[in-house]
Amino acid sequence: MALNSTYIWIDDRLKDSQEATLPFINAGLHYGISVFEGIRCYETDRGAAIFRLEEHVDRLLNSAHILGLRELPFNRQALIAAIRQTVAANGFAACYIRPLIFVDGAMNLVIDAGKPRLVIAVWEWKTFFSQEAKERGIRANISSLTRLHPNVSMTKAKISGNYVGSVMAKTESVRMGFDEAIMLDPAGYVAECTGENLFVVRGGVIYTVPRCSILEGITRDSIITLAQDLGYRVVEEAISRDQLYMSDEVFVTGTAAEVVAIREIDFRKIASGKAGPVTTTLQHEFEKLTRGEHGRSEQWLSYVPAMSASVKV
Ligand SMILES: Cc1ncc(COP(=O)(O)O)c(C=O)c1O
Repeated sequence: MALNSTYIWIDDRLKDSQEATLPFINAGLHYGISVFEGIRCYETDRGAAIFRLEEHVDRLLNSAHILGLRELPFNRQALIAAIRQTVAANGFAACYIRPLIFVDGAMNLVIDAGKPRLVIAVWEWKTFFSQEAKERGIRANISSLTRLHPNVSMTKAKISGNYVGSVMAKTESVRMGFDEAIMLDPAGYVAECTGENLFVVRGGVIYTVPRCSILEGITRDSIITLAQDLGYRVVEEAISRDQLYMSDEVFVTGTAAEVVAIREIDFRKIASGKAGPVTTTLQHEFEKLTRGEHGRSEQWLSYVPAMSASVKV
């Protein structure tokens, strides 16, 4: 995965990425006091298209609000425009977009003592799990780490510090030979994976975890909508570890992972041990959607015209 881009947005303008530097003394770096988004831009026949840009920007602003940032030096419209400009300037056909608001200063642990600053980077990132994993499904384990309690750190916000537990869980999982970790909530029920929401299929009904202890995934919301469009019943209710083992299908959704089946959990095959029909159907619907070929593409894709070199920096 190449993390290269030519231009990075810092504060209020694009900079050549070679010149884009940040101060060492910032609470974002030291204490994880920053909020971020993960957004994808897809290649379509009409050019690059950002998936659900407005919803991602709203979640970023909500994350900042939850963290306690009171005033930001930009508004929603400026943020949307900055993201579009960063994508256009870099000229990738498809890319991953990472806006991040970090707190500069605030080394006394009081947010108000620092200054919120904006950075937007983009890079080419075509698949998170391998193509084979996407087709066959992935292997997961139940993590030894518990997903955060909402009163330990707010699970609705993409606060950088929240991701330490996810990084530890994913690292443990990969070192043990799995592809992904499933995290349980403090009550012992299924919460989510380190960067994906989780769904179960049983008897033709799709189940997913209620929103209270998880990140409200934008892919999760899209998949619920696509499934309901196709006539599936989608039920939000608590899911236990053993219910996962007994499922007909388990799949996860996320901006990076998109829609991927879990074929094995804790060395137990899930049903036939292959991606099941509901997962495959939703995977194809999601692909059509992000290629710009679905009835809902118009609603959820923001097309980004390429920018001429002269207006970049
Ligand atoms: C903890 C967690 N859960 C779920 C998701 C999936 O959310 P989305 O579909 O908005 O990418 C992510 C990724 O952002 C995540 O970090």
